[in-house]
Amino acid sequence: MFEDQVKQLRQFNKLVHSSTHADNKLATGQLRVGIDLGTATIVFAVINEQGDPVYGESVPDQAIRDGVIVNYLDAVRIVQGIRERAEAALGTQLTTAAGAIPPGVGTGNSKAVANVIEDAGLHCSNIVDEPTAAATFLKVKTGTIVDVGGGTTGISVFENNKLIHVGDEATGGYHMTLVLAGSEHISHTEAETLKQDHQREHEVFPVIRPVVEKMATIVDQVAEQRPVEPIVVVGGASNFSEFTTTMAKVLDQPVEGIINPEFVTPLGIALSDDPLQEATSDGY
Ligand SMILES: Nc1ncnc2c1ncn2[C@@H]1O[C@H](COP(=O)(O)OP(=O)(O)OP(=O)(O)O)[C@@H](O)[C@H]1O
Ligand SMILES: [Mg+2]
Repeated sequence: MFEDQVKQLRQFNKLVHSSTHADNKLATGQLRVGIDLGTATIVFAVINEQGDPVYGESVPDQAIRDGVIVNYLDAVRIVQGIRERAEAALGTQLTTAAGAIPPGVGTGNSKAVANVIEDAGLHCSNIVDEPTAAATFLKVKTGTIVDVGGGTTGISVFENNKLIHVGDEATGGYHMTLVLAGSEHISHTEAETLKQDHQREHEVFPVIRPVVEKMATIVDQVAEQRPVEPIVVVGGASNFSEFTTTMAKVLDQPVEGIINPEFVTPLGIALSDDPLQEATSDGY
């Protein structure tokens, strides 16, 4: 399952961690841009017509809280900086970009996301909701997408491409860090580093397991005790080898994860960019 997607996620992860962030060989034809303004990171993804990643950056930010922009100028500055670096590295101008919002945050916020994109020098061609972007990338038409990000766990249940249940609760990677800091008597920054040190997952995971179990009960509630399968977990906070088995045990249903889960939504947003459309932020 997800063979092509795994390949693209690996490619994208490589770009994010490379010095130029770019793959010039694949950067041909009409390029599409996805911008994910997340609570923990702003991710900028550029893909070619085939969907192959050609540029990728992930920048930590404090401009967004639970999907709502709390520092507009910072968000613009970060996105504009990445756009300029991307254009220089790729040797071409980027024209349009798609953005995304968590479900249920309201039209005001989608207007704000579109404005960030426009003020950063790109035409906003589309605003999609985050779980729909993730489902688009994974080609999941029927199933449950669980997005465990920095601040929240978002659940979206799809049936034949239609969103039938949706919910977003304030339990995410941030809360795992809080629990770890409290239990180990260390600072939040130290706990964040410890949490992401996979050599020490055997010490870390038992401490944060209750947070994952709480996330599973949120999934159960939102999906009205009947999450439609497949249940697929995405988002940075699902980066633990025991994450899916822990959630599966609570739900008593199979749960699937994916490599580099933090890049599923950004790549799905890029797929939603439509550079040929008459670009405008009006109407959002
Ligand atoms: N390798 C890792 N191991 C453990 N946790 C990780 C790892 N990488 C990222 N995270 C955690 O994932 C969270 C960020 O995930 P993601 O980038 O999906 O969130 P976001 O989109 O910025 O936030 P949100 O969707 O809530 O707005 C952070 O809490 C971060 O600590
Ligand atoms: Mg996110």
